[in-house]
Amino acid sequence: MVGSANLNIMMKAARRAGRALVKDFREVENLQVSMKGAGDFVSRADMTSETMLKEDLLGARPTYGWLGEETGGQDGEDPTRRWIVDPLDGTTNFLHGLPHWGVSIALEHKGKIVAGVVYDPAKDEMFFAEKGAGAWMNESRIRVSGRSRMIDSIFATGLPFAGRPELPDTLKELARVLPATSGVRRWGAAALDLAYVAAGRFDGYWERRLNPWDVAAGQLIVREAGGLVDTIVPDGNVVEDRTILCANEALFNNLAKLVRG
Ligand code: IPD
Ligand code: CA
Ligand code: CA
Repeated sequence: MVGSANLNIMMKAARRAGRALVKDFREVENLQVSMKGAGDFVSRADMTSETMLKEDLLGARPTYGWLGEETGGQDGEDPTRRWIVDPLDGTTNFLHGLPHWGVSIALEHKGKIVAGVVYDPAKDEMFFAEKGAGAWMNESRIRVSGRSRMIDSIFATGLPFAGRPELPDTLKELARVLPATSGVRRWGAAALDLAYVAAGRFDGYWERRLNPWDVAAGQLIVREAGGLVDTIVPDGNVVEDRTILCANEALFNNLAKLVRG
């Protein structure tokens, strides 16, 4: 697929940050066996990734605004365009030496996401989409799954950790979803959960307490792959709302019914 200049800038930036993260990830794998712990090291890797992405993205488009997990928001001279970036999604996996984490970059124009890239450097899988141009993984066009029976389908979600208040709601949702399906996965990287729905690997996904940088790119990739995306309380703004629910068209209403209760 021949992407726009902006899409090429996004993919190049994701690859450069990804290369640095892969080097750091090898180091983290070594640190697992030491007593020192890898927490500070990973925080530095995260920050270095955002610094590199900011250099590349704002370097190429200096008038755009910025919203990044590590450095926060910054207005640009052009108030209509903004980069929304998670420099390392799946930090806990990264910290534990689990090769499932990624870089997420979205471009917003006039309040709508128009391009999204989710890159998994450990597997060299680049998921991307531009509004109206379909969804892709590396050289191949991707589509959401063709499954139509809940009992044949698997769904991804996020589970609240460290005392987060969503636990009771999440347990109720799981009690409704698990018996009706082939299972639920918690893989620990929201941007990749969305990319996997787009690629038909998961049949759907839902989660509470997310941030714009977790979902901005991935939700566009799901839509462009033919999936339906909404907030858990219907008709909200998926990027801002902090909750998300998505699936292929055949399964969406069934999943929504179970999650919404
Ligand atoms: C987290 C991951 C995780 C999700 C959390 C996010 P981070 O992002 O996407 O899967 O359950 O809610 O905060 O902190 O690894 O960038
Ligand atoms: Ca994240
Ligand atoms: Ca992050």
